[in-house]
Amino acid sequence: MESMDSGQIIGLSKFWGMLASGTLRNLGYYAATEFPWEEEIPFSGNVFAPAREYIRREPIGVCVGIIPWNFPISMASWKIAHAIVMGNTVVLKPASVTPLTALIMAEAAQAAGIPHGVINVLTGPGAELGKTLCTHPDVDKIAFTGSTVVGADIMRMASDTVKKVTLELGGKSANIILDDADPDLAVEGAIFGTFFHQGQVCESGTRVLVAGKIYDEFVERMAKRAEELRVGYQLLPGTHQGPLVSAGQLATVEGYVRLGVDEGAELVTGGTRVHPPGFEGGFYYAPTIFANVRNDMRIAQEEIFGPVVCVERFDSDEEAVTIANDSMYGLAGGVFSNNYARAERIARQVRTGTMWINNFHIFADFAPFGGYKQSGVGRELGGVGLAEYTQVKRIHMNAAASRTANFTMNLFSDDPRVDTLQYKAPTNVLAGHGTLAGLPQAVVSLGCRRAMILTDAGVRQAGLTQLVQNALCDFCVGVFDDIPADSDLATVDAATAKARELGADCIVSVGGGSVIDTAKAVCVTLKNGGEANDHIALMRLTEPQTPHIAIPTTAGTGSEVTNVAVIHDAKMDRKVYIVDANIIPNVAILDPRLTIGLPARLTAATGMDAITHAVEALTSTLAQAVCDGQALHALRLMKEFLPRAVANGEDEQARVQVSVAACMAGWAFSTAQVGLAHSMAHTIGTLHHAHHGTVCGIVLPKVMRFNAEHAADKLAMAAQALGVDTTDMTDHDAALAAADAVEALMREIKHPMTLRELGVPEDALEAAALHALADTATLFNARPVYDPAEVLELLRQAF
Ligand SMILES: NC(=O)c1ccc[n+]([C@@H]2O[C@H](COP(=O)([O-])OP(=O)(O)OC[C@H]3O[C@@H](n4cnc5c(N)ncnc54)[C@H](O)[C@@H]3O)[C@@H](O)[C@H]2O)c1
Repeated sequence: MESMDSGQIIGLSKFWGMLASGTLRNLGYYAATEFPWEEEIPFSGNVFAPAREYIRREPIGVCVGIIPWNFPISMASWKIAHAIVMGNTVVLKPASVTPLTALIMAEAAQAAGIPHGVINVLTGPGAELGKTLCTHPDVDKIAFTGSTVVGADIMRMASDTVKKVTLELGGKSANIILDDADPDLAVEGAIFGTFFHQGQVCESGTRVLVAGKIYDEFVERMAKRAEELRVGYQLLPGTHQGPLVSAGQLATVEGYVRLGVDEGAELVTGGTRVHPPGFEGGFYYAPTIFANVRNDMRIAQEEIFGPVVCVERFDSDEEAVTIANDSMYGLAGGVFSNNYARAERIARQVRTGTMWINNFHIFADFAPFGGYKQSGVGRELGGVGLAEYTQVKRIHMNAAASRTANFTMNLFSDDPRVDTLQYKAPTNVLAGHGTLAGLPQAVVSLGCRRAMILTDAGVRQAGLTQLVQNALCDFCVGVFDDIPADSDLATVDAATAKARELGADCIVSVGGGSVIDTAKAVCVTLKNGGEANDHIALMRLTEPQTPHIAIPTTAGTGSEVTNVAVIHDAKMDRKVYIVDANIIPNVAILDPRLTIGLPARLTAATGMDAITHAVEALTSTLAQAVCDGQALHALRLMKEFLPRAVANGEDEQARVQVSVAACMAGWAFSTAQVGLAHSMAHTIGTLHHAHHGTVCGIVLPKVMRFNAEHAADKLAMAAQALGVDTTDMTDHDAALAAADAVEALMREIKHPMTLRELGVPEDALEAAALHALADTATLFNARPVYDPAEVLELLRQAF
C-alpha cells in the first residue's frame, strides 16, 4: 500500500511496518523508563527562600501532526508516537496525495482498543484543513514536517493563539568528500545520499562538496554509478529508483534541471525522463548530476526534492565548511574521510542538525533529528524530541510556611525579622587538654589515610605544625605553609596544586581563620577540579567535599565550625565568599596546647571577632532561638574567660572556654548571619590590611548603638550576658549599656579602640563606607542600611 501510494520502492517499503512499530515501542519505552518526568533541584540558588524546588513535565494537550508525502507511514508513526507516549492526544493530517497508510494505522488503533479521540486521522487538502487546525483554539501544539514555505505559514497561523510549534523543514545538505576518503565508500555515500527515494528526502546530501585533488575522478565515478541505477516500477524487486510522487513534482524537477543548464552548470549525466518498458508515461526521472556547480547558483541554494545532485569543488577544509554553511538551510550533512579526527572537526563546524561521518540517511529512535536555520524549530526522536511534547512546570514548596520566615515578603514589613528555624551543625568537636591525640582516629573515621597539613609561617614558627605532624604519625603526606593573612585565591590554587601533587585525601588545617578558610576553599577545589575562582558561590554544592579537620590556633574566628570561607580576591580587591553547608569542617579539635602561645594582642583581637559574631547573630534579621542561645552563652563565656586568657595565656581552662565560646558564636552566625560590623571589618581589612578581629572589635560598639532601637530586645539580652544589671532599664537603655559593656571589656583586655591606631588613613573612610554598603553582610543588619552617609558616620566614630 505504501509503495502504491507514494512510489517508494518495495525494497524500502517492506521495512516500514517493522520500523514504525519499533519507533512506537522504543519511544514508549523511553517515556516510561528513561524520561525525566520529575527532577528535583537540589539547591535552588536562592539563599533566602529555603524550599523544595522541582520540575514536573506535563503533557501539552491536543497535538496536531501534519506530515508530507515522502515517507507517509514513517512520518505518521513519529507524530503519533511522540504525542501519545508523552500523554497527549493527536490529530494527524496526512498529505492529500498519500493518505492511505495513516488510515490503516487509525483502523489498527481502533481495533487495538485505544480510546476514541486519542489518535485521530483527518484527510483532506492541506490549505483548508491546515488552516483550521493551525488556528483552532483547542489545539495546543503543531508538529509539521514539510517545506520551509509552508512551515513559515504554519508558524504565522499558530501565532495568534500562541501554539507550541515544532517544524522539520527543507534542506540543501552538504556531503563533504575529503581527499583522504575511502573512494568506494565515498562514491556510494554520495550516490545513496542523493538518489535514495528518488531524492525526495529533506535531509538528502544534494550538494556534494569534493576536494579539488580528487574532483575529476570522483565526478566520473559518480556518473558511472548513477548510470548503473535501475529506474523503474516500484513494486519490481530489482528497482533502485521508483517514480516521483506526482506530475507536479516531475515538472518541478524538470524546471530545475533546465535552470541548472541555463546557469552554466555542467550536466554530467541524467537530465531526462525515463520510460521503463511497460510503464511508459510514469513520472520516472533519471539520476542527474551537475558538476562545476558554484554555490551561489539557484540549483545549489534551492531545494529541488528530486534525483538531482550538485557537485562542487573545494580546496581546503575551511573552504568546505564555508561552502557548507553558505545556505539558508541546516538540516543535515556528511563528511567522508579516513581521518575521523579531521572529519569530526568539520562536523562540529557545520551549522546543521545532524552530521553523519562516513554514512548518510541513518536515523535512530534515541538520537534527535531537526534543523538549524530555516530547516526547522525543535527536534524529534530521543529524549530531546519527547521533551518537545511536554510543558515544564516548576513547583516551589516553601520550607517554612510562616509570614515571618519569608525574607522577600519581609520587604513589606517594618520588623523584618525571620523567626523560623533551620539549623545544621555537623562538625564533630573534640575539646580539652590532650584532644590532639584524637587526630589519627579522626582521619581514619573519615575514610582517609593521606592528610596534608595546611598552615602558615607564624604557626609553624610557634612549633604547632610539628606538634600536629607528630600527632598525625604516618598519615601526614606533606605540609603547605605559605598562607598569608587574609589569604587569596592564588594561595588556594597553590595549596590545591600541592594537595593534588601529593595525592592528599584529606586536609588538616592548623592556624587561624586565614588558614582554615583557605583549607575550606582547597577542599572544594580539590573535589570539584578547576581553580578556586570557579567555586566562589553560595549554596551550590550538592555533596560532601574533601574531608577537612580544623585545628584552630587563635581564639575566636569559629571558622572550624562555620559554613563560610572568606577569601581575598586580589583582582577585585574585595573579600569573596563560599557559603555552603557542605564546606563545614568534619572535625574540629580544640586542644588548649595549640593556643597557649598565642600572643595576648592576638588573643584579644580574635576574641573580639567571636564577640562580634555573637552580637551580630543575635541581632540579625535571620536570628532564631537556637542561635540566640548559642550567641548568649558565647558572650557569657567570653566575658568571664577572655580577660583571663589575655592576662595569662597559659590558663588552660580559660583557653578551652574561649575556644568553645568561639565555636558557639560560629554556630550562631553560620545560621543567623552577621551584620554591618562585619561589612565594615571586611572592607577595612581588604583595603588597609588591618586584622579582621581587631576591626570587628573597634566598630562593634558603634554598630550596636546604631542598632539600639531596631534590636533593643536582643541587645538587652546581650547586656545581661555581659554582666550588666538591666533591672531598671528600658530595653533601649540596656542596648546602649551593652555597647558600653563591650567597650569596657575591650579596655580590660587592652584592645585597640580606634581605627586611627591601626594606621587606617582618615581620608579613606568615605570610600570604605561605599565599599562596606556593597558587602552582603549588610543585608541582615537589624537596622536596614541603605545610606553610605550613615556608614561613614559610624566609621568616623570608629576612627
Ligand atoms: N570563615 C569564618 O567563619 C570566619 C570567621 C571569622 C573570620 N574569618 C576570617 O579569618 C581571618 C582572620 O583569622 P584570624 O583572626 O584567626 O587570623 P589569621 O589566621 O590571619 O592569623 C593571624 C596571625 O596569627 C598567627 N598565629 C595564629 N595562631 C598562632 C599561635 N597559636 N601562636 C602564634 N601565632 C599564631 C598567624 O601566623 C598569623 O600571622 C580573616 O580573613 C577573616 O575574614 C573567617
